[in-house]
Parts: sequence; C-alpha cells; structure tokens
Amino acid sequence: MNLIDFFNDMLAWKAVGHVAVRAADKEDRDAGARLRENGAGGPRWRSTSRSRIKGELDMTVTLITGANKGLGRETARRLIKEGHTVYIGARSAERGQKAAAELGGRFVQLDVTDDASVASALQVIGEREGRLDVLVNNAGAALPALNGPDALQVFDTNVVGIVRVTQAALPLLRKSANPVVVNISSALGSFWAVTNPEQPASRVPAIVYGASKAAVSMLTLQYAKAVPEVKFNAVDPGSTATDLTAGRGGRPVGQSAEVIVRMATIGTDGPTGTFQWDAGELPW
Ligand SMILES: NC(=O)c1ccc[n+]([C@@H]2O[C@H](COP(=O)([O-])OP(=O)(O)OC[C@H]3O[C@@H](n4cnc5c(N)ncnc54)[C@H](OP(=O)(O)O)[C@@H]3O)[C@@H](O)[C@H]2O)c1
Repeated sequence: MNLIDFFNDMLAWKAVGHVAVRAADKEDRDAGARLRENGAGGPRWRSTSRSRIKGELDMTVTLITGANKGLGRETARRLIKEGHTVYIGARSAERGQKAAAELGGRFVQLDVTDDASVASALQVIGEREGRLDVLVNNAGAALPALNGPDALQVFDTNVVGIVRVTQAALPLLRKSANPVVVNISSALGSFWAVTNPEQPASRVPAIVYGASKAAVSMLTLQYAKAVPEVKFNAVDPGSTATDLTAGRGGRPVGQSAEVIVRMATIGTDGPTGTFQWDAGELPW
C-alpha cells in the first residue's frame, strides 16, 4: 500500500465515526442558535463544549504554525469565524500575509526550524496581546527520500520545531486562564494503529515521517506531565487532501480540521496528555 491508498482507506474506515461527529456538532449549533434566538444575550457556541454556552470572554488568542495553507489555514479560518484572534504563523511573509488578509487573521513570520524566527514571533504576540491561550503546532513536512538530510529536515520541522515553538510560547501560555497546546500528529505515528492489521496505518511504509509523529506523541505526553498547568493533546486529523499528500488523496480540509478545532477550544475541564481523532481517543 502506498500513501495515497492509505489516505483512501482511512477515509472509508473513519466515515462512520465522522458522521456521528458531524451530527453531534449540528445538534450543538442548533442548540446554540436556539438560545440566541431566545434572547440569551448573544453567547457564542463552541461546537466542542457540548454542555456549555461560551461567552465573548472565552475568545482566545491562538497561534497556528504553518497556517498559510492546508489544515493550518482551515483551522485558522474556522477559529476566526468563531470570533477568536488567530495569528497565522508562516515562514513565507508573502504566503502568510496573503492568507491572513483573506481570513481576517494576523500574520506573524515564523519558521519552526529557526530559533530567531520563533523567538521574534512570540515576542510580537507578547507585545500585542500580552498572552497566548492556544498554540497549534501544525507545521509539518513529509519528505519521501530516505537519507540523512531529508530525515533531519523532517525531524527538525515535525519534532524539534514543536520544542522550539512550545518553549518560546510557554511564558505567554502561562499568562492565559486556560492554556492549551494542540500538536498535530498522525495515525502513522500511533504504535497501536501501525501494529493493528485492521488499521490502514499498519500497511503504510512511512519510516521517517511515522517515526517523527511517534516522537510528537511522546513530546505531548512528556509536556503534559512536565507542565500540568497547560493542556497538551495530540491530534490525528485523518487523511486529508493537501499539498503534503500531493493533493491526490484524503478528505477535504473542512472535515479534518474539525478535530483540531475541537481540541483547540477545550474548556478548563478538557483533557491533557491524550491523542485524539474523529471518534474520540486514539490509542498511542
Ligand atoms: N494531510 C494529511 O493527510 C495529514 C494527515 C495527518 C497529519 N497531517 C499533519 O497535518 C499538519 C499540516 O499538514 P497539511 O496536510 O496541512 O500539509 P500542507 O498543506 O503541506 O501544510 C504544511 C504547512 O506547514 C508549513 N511548514 C512546513 N515547514 C515549515 C517550517 N519550517 N516553518 C513553518 N511552517 C512550515 C507549510 O508552509 P509552506 O507553505 O511555507 O511550505 C504549510 O503551511 C502536518 O503536521 C502534517 O504532518 C496531515
């Protein structure tokens, strides 16, 4: 099985669970709309906080890395639509500014492989906002070649990048009333999925990329233990048609971003140290 077949298999495998999630979200939105119609003071409804209506005060300052396209861009679009302040992190000023202008977000130059760029991005957000509520470590790379330079680049982006950005963001996250970090991982990094013959991930050779996402899982768990005042969760967005998959496989970004938005908008009672996908918790 190649990566494209894998994405198609994942689509079929997750279809049932996804329908359930969509139905639940619709119920939530309907409930929120009913309350607004009933003159409840215009509260905002977060699709993920199923038992509560959230107020304007719950709007977050969010930073998404690699948000100029793909899943990061769609996550930004969704959060901005809900009323959150979203910093579109992008290594290219041109691509980032374009996305921010189109979405109504705020551009910040941020190359996750460059310490100075990361420090400068968080300094900008600190000066403008004084805090950071949500960090979505989304920037990612999947290079096919099996050689040292490409493997280093994949790990530098997918793994070390998360350490760089998280460390730089922690002082601002600690100023939030509900600090949340979402690390975008993959079922290809789940030992359970990769060793389970019923899982499409078990049939995909993704040596370096899979190893990098397994490292993302361990980073998530270790950070959750070491920094209990911040919630850290990993997410598998599911196989998605983006440039990372050469646009040839996977479902639309709109569906895959749902689980990212869900975990980016957890309340103070939300989980930490978990791995999530459409259907709930994904075994490590
Ligand atoms: N697509 C899938 O099926 C799938 C499945 C599971 C997990 N994921 C994960 O989802 C995340 C987003 O991927 P995607 O599918 O949306 O891919 P994508 O469309 O290729 O987007 C990747 C984003 O990461 C950015 N990026 C790459 N290297 C960077 C760096 N050094 N610094 C800052 N930004 C950098 C890219 O910026 P440029 O435009 O400058 O290149 C782009 O904005 C990744 O972590 C990926 O591993 C994807």
